[in-house]
Formats: sequence, structure tokens, C-alpha cells
Amino acid sequence: MLTRRRAIKSLGVGLSVAGLGLSPWLRAQHNAISQQPLSIPSLDSGTFSAGINKFDLNLQRGKHSFLPGLSTETLGINGNYLGPTLRFKRNQKVALQVSNKIGEPSSLHWHGFHLPPTEDGGPHQEIAANQVWNPSFDVVQFAGTYWYHSHVMHNAGSQVYQGLAGMIIVEDEEQDVPLPTNYGVDDIPVILQDRRFGDDGSLLYMNRYEDQVMGMQGDTIVVNGTVNPVITTATRLLRLRLLNASNARTYNLGFSDNREFYQVASDGGFLESPVPLTRLTLAVAERAEILVEFDPFDEATLINIALPPAFPDFPGAMSEMMRELNTQAFDILHFRAQSTLQDNGELPTQLADIYRLPEAAATNTRSFRLGMGNGMRSGDDAGPGRGARNGRGGGFGGGQFSINGRLMAENYINERIEFNTTEIWELTNTSPMMHPFHVHNGQFQILDRDGSPPPDNEMGWKDTVQVRPGQLVRIVMRFTDFRDEENPYMYHCHILEHEDRGMMGQFLVV
Ligand code: C2O
Ligand code: CU
Ligand code: CU
Repeated sequence: MLTRRRAIKSLGVGLSVAGLGLSPWLRAQHNAISQQPLSIPSLDSGTFSAGINKFDLNLQRGKHSFLPGLSTETLGINGNYLGPTLRFKRNQKVALQVSNKIGEPSSLHWHGFHLPPTEDGGPHQEIAANQVWNPSFDVVQFAGTYWYHSHVMHNAGSQVYQGLAGMIIVEDEEQDVPLPTNYGVDDIPVILQDRRFGDDGSLLYMNRYEDQVMGMQGDTIVVNGTVNPVITTATRLLRLRLLNASNARTYNLGFSDNREFYQVASDGGFLESPVPLTRLTLAVAERAEILVEFDPFDEATLINIALPPAFPDFPGAMSEMMRELNTQAFDILHFRAQSTLQDNGELPTQLADIYRLPEAAATNTRSFRLGMGNGMRSGDDAGPGRGARNGRGGGFGGGQFSINGRLMAENYINERIEFNTTEIWELTNTSPMMHPFHVHNGQFQILDRDGSPPPDNEMGWKDTVQVRPGQLVRIVMRFTDFRDEENPYMYHCHILEHEDRGMMGQFLVV
């Protein structure tokens, strides 16, 4: 069936993939909807008593209006869509009471946190319908931007898509970095998502063939649940906490006037010093805090700039899809500066001292091969070259995504890691699309990509790293504090449909 949107979209295929021109299908969505003020998730700093900061989180069903005049059935946490921004303090203990009222199993994972595996909220901490889960842990993270989301086995994609996600801000009172901190005023959460709607406003999920391969990519960009959002700023500097909470889409961000901005933090905290950029690529689950400066009456738009196709020389229908992926330009978030702007600080020169984990400290190296199309059953490893590129193996229609040729099996431990050691993980990608690889239990550092050190804005702490087609990415990580012979942590591709379909593994720290 050729729907209207599909027809609009197909017009976009084959148009210029470079430059700043909006692709017709996304522009069509935006033009239909006038600009709306960016909604800001409420801030929940918890209730502090007896040395513990307590949070109540209810997973619930709701309705949210994304499109004018239409109501959409959604999931939310303490609300209709998404959840409150949780504010944790470093070195404080948090206790969360998570009540599942959505009528189906769920879970809530604290993405980027270093904590015991039983408190992690992964697939093994499933919360049955009408049950309550009470995790608690010490916040040992650096100040930064983290998030929480459903991680229920085989169904995280659908639940996050409907709204089970939120931001976490960790503050550190001992760290004195002069950056804007007025939440929602000059310190702005920017939760990037893309959605696809039916004519009645309902969320459409995985209803196209290519979704099975690429993961769910929508044709309508929503920021904090707002379509075509605008921020009016009364301050000269804005700190934007960018979180890619999309299911599958990678954003290649920049401003409509090509202005420079400064990245000050990556996934796990501040960079050493602000990194000037005009482009920033953010894959699913990655975070970046950026500082942007405005003049009175300034107008600018945060946009997605089309990326050149990742795999232009790879023949066949599969490659057609890959070429289309991320090759569109579109508007994300408009900014309008008032006639007079409050001076709210300067760009700091120094942010943090980052201890670089020495490669020589590693006592073990492991390899993880990210593949598509091989590994028909859990446990199979057909080996390199058996996947997409020669058309053999499970095939894309079946949506086979694997790590080292295996699909995630809940009762199979893939890796056992010796407690208190440092390891190097070698990540390779034998498939034609980029996979954002995420490791639970904290933060790692990127050693190199194909032998070259990462750019300055990837020299800080990371928990998710882009592994592009054909690349070898080496990361280094320490496994400290939580030893557990029984309860594993996850590592996986953070394209949620890949994760749900098996591109995930488990490790114990023993
Ligand atoms: Cu953001 Cu395993 O998760
Ligand atoms: Cu995680
Ligand atoms: Cu993937």
C-alpha cells in the first residue's frame, strides 16, 4: 500500500545527498505544523532523607498531542510521554521505586552508570505488569548527562518509541565549572527522537520493510516530545544537553548559519576543554553537552546535515537502503534570541582533568564482530564474510543481527571478565551500516579507530561508540567495584531494533 507519506518520501530518494537542502518528505512534515515552544521535561531532584535520595517513578499509559488536533497513545514515566529529568548528586545514594502500570512487562535501565548488575535495569531486572522494582545505588558518576529507558527483552524498541525514556543529570558540587545551570532556561535538555505517525495520529512502528534492517526511523523529528520546536532565549549562552534517544537514527548536527559551537561534555562527563565544532555526529544513546552563543535578535536553527552515503560502492538493494540512511537534511530546533540578552558567563578554558587509561594497563584483549545476516541460531558463528556482503546467511528480511555470530540468549554468558582488571575491546563491523556499540557498567575510553586516535570530542569518557562499516575501533575499560558471579551486564548495539533482535551479549565480572 502506498500511503501519502510514502509517496512524498519516495520523491526524496535520489535527490542531492549533500548540502543543506531540506529533503521534501521531512519538510512536508514541518511545514504542516507551526513552530511550538520546546517542552521541557519536569525536573525531579528526589526527596532526600536519612542520607538517601528517593525517587518515585510510575511507568504509565497516556495520551500526548504531537500533531495539531490529534491525540496519540503513548507511554510515559510520571506523565504522558517520556519521563522527568532526574537530578542526581555525585556521591549520594539514590533509591528508586519503579512501579509498572503499563499492563505488560518492562524494565528501567540507568544508562551510563557504574553500579551493581542487579540494580542496572537490564533484561534480567524485568518488572512484571503491576509489580514494583526498588533499585538503589551510589552515584559515582562524574557530573554529566545520562539517561534512563526501557530495556525489556525483545521489546525495548517499542517501549522507548512509545515514550519510556528520560534524561538524568548528575551534578557534582565539588567540581566548579562555570557553565549555565539554570534548568530549562539556559541549561536545556534536548531529547532527539524521530517518529512516524498514521493519519489518525497514532504511532506507527516497524511497518515498513526497511525498518527490519535499519531499525525504526521516523519521518517526523520530535524534541522533548515537541514537533517543530522553538526556544526563545533571554541569555547569551545556552548549554544544550543533547541526547539521542531515537531508536535508530544518527544525527549529523550543525546550525543553519554554520555557526561554531563548543562541545563541553561527552557521554560520561566533561571534556578536558571545550572543543569548537560546526558539525557533531550523535548516534543513538550518545550524549553531548554543547555551548552556543547568541546575539540579540539572533535566529538560528539546529539542523541535521545530510551525511554522504556510508557504502556507495556496495551493490544491491541492501545498499540502496543504506545509501538512503542519514542522507537527508532537516530542521530540528529553532532558536530565537530576545532583544536584550542577559550575560550568563564566558566560555571556560579548562573543564576537567581526564585520566587517560593507559593501553599498557590492559591485561586482556577481546574481539567483538558486529555483523548482519549471519548467525541463524544462537551459538552459530559462521565467521567473517558470511554476512551481508556476499548475500549469504540469515538474510536481512529475517533481521539477523549478531555479535561474534551469536544472538543474545538470556541464559548464555558470552564473556567472563576478571574483577579489577583493565581490558581492551576490539570492535569490528562487517556489515554495511554503522552500529553504536554500548557497554553497561560505566564508562570507557576510545583508543583508536583504524589506528588513528579519536577526535578531541571523543577523548573523554564514553559509554557508546560509533563503529562504522569496515572499521576497527579499540576501546579500553576498567572493571572495578562490583563483582558478581551470577548477574551479568549487557553490551549491545544501541539501535534498539538490532538489540531487540539479538545484537547483544552478556558479561560477568568475576
Ligand atoms: Cu541504553 Cu543497554 O542501554
Ligand atoms: Cu546502558
Ligand atoms: Cu546495530
